[in-house]
Amino acid sequence: MGLRLMDEAPDFTAETTAGTINFHEWLGDGWGILFSHPADYTPVCTTELGYMSKITGEFEKRNVKVLAVSVDPMESHHGWINDINETQNTTVTFPLIADADQQVAELYDMIHPNANDKMTVRSVFVIGPDKKIKMMLTYPASTGRNFDEILRVVDSLQLTAKHKLATPVNWQNGEDVIIIPAVSDEDANKIYSNIRRVKPYLRYVSQPDSQ
Ligand code: BEZ
Repeated sequence: MGLRLMDEAPDFTAETTAGTINFHEWLGDGWGILFSHPADYTPVCTTELGYMSKITGEFEKRNVKVLAVSVDPMESHHGWINDINETQNTTVTFPLIADADQQVAELYDMIHPNANDKMTVRSVFVIGPDKKIKMMLTYPASTGRNFDEILRVVDSLQLTAKHKLATPVNWQNGEDVIIIPAVSDEDANKIYSNIRRVKPYLRYVSQPDSQ
């Protein structure tokens, strides 16, 4: 059976462009993103890793480490990173796993043989400080992902890990949030002074801790 939300993220030791990484140890007590791309020296992947590189600082601010994986070898990764830096006007600092033996790809079910039996699909796993999988998504090779959306999801996950709240459609950090149904009106009134009650089940409050 494949991985599901709240399963423990499988641990592994792998060779990366930043040396050997033991995944759980490397994550420490912070958050992590593990994402795969189909292959080195391909156009969409080049733009994706370039953009991810540009917003790595945003993930760092949120205590999220970023780790990329594809089934290409180390030498290929190093050469391709030079191309990404040159063409995307960036400096890639996050590590890339050289997963030529497909160890990580198999652990995370990143090869979907009916799509392609040699390349990884575009998977993203967000992993919490408890090493549990908090979010996962899969895109086909032909569709580049929106990494701003991954950042938005991290903001939601980090907020809802701390508060009995949920985030509405297209929510952006700082906007109003929703009190989850499991919280009674009585309890909600004890915690929040500014509840906007649209329906008994649809209760908004300002985002706590928003800056
Ligand atoms: C790309 O990254 O451009 C790509 C990779 C594999 C298949 C199609 C596109």
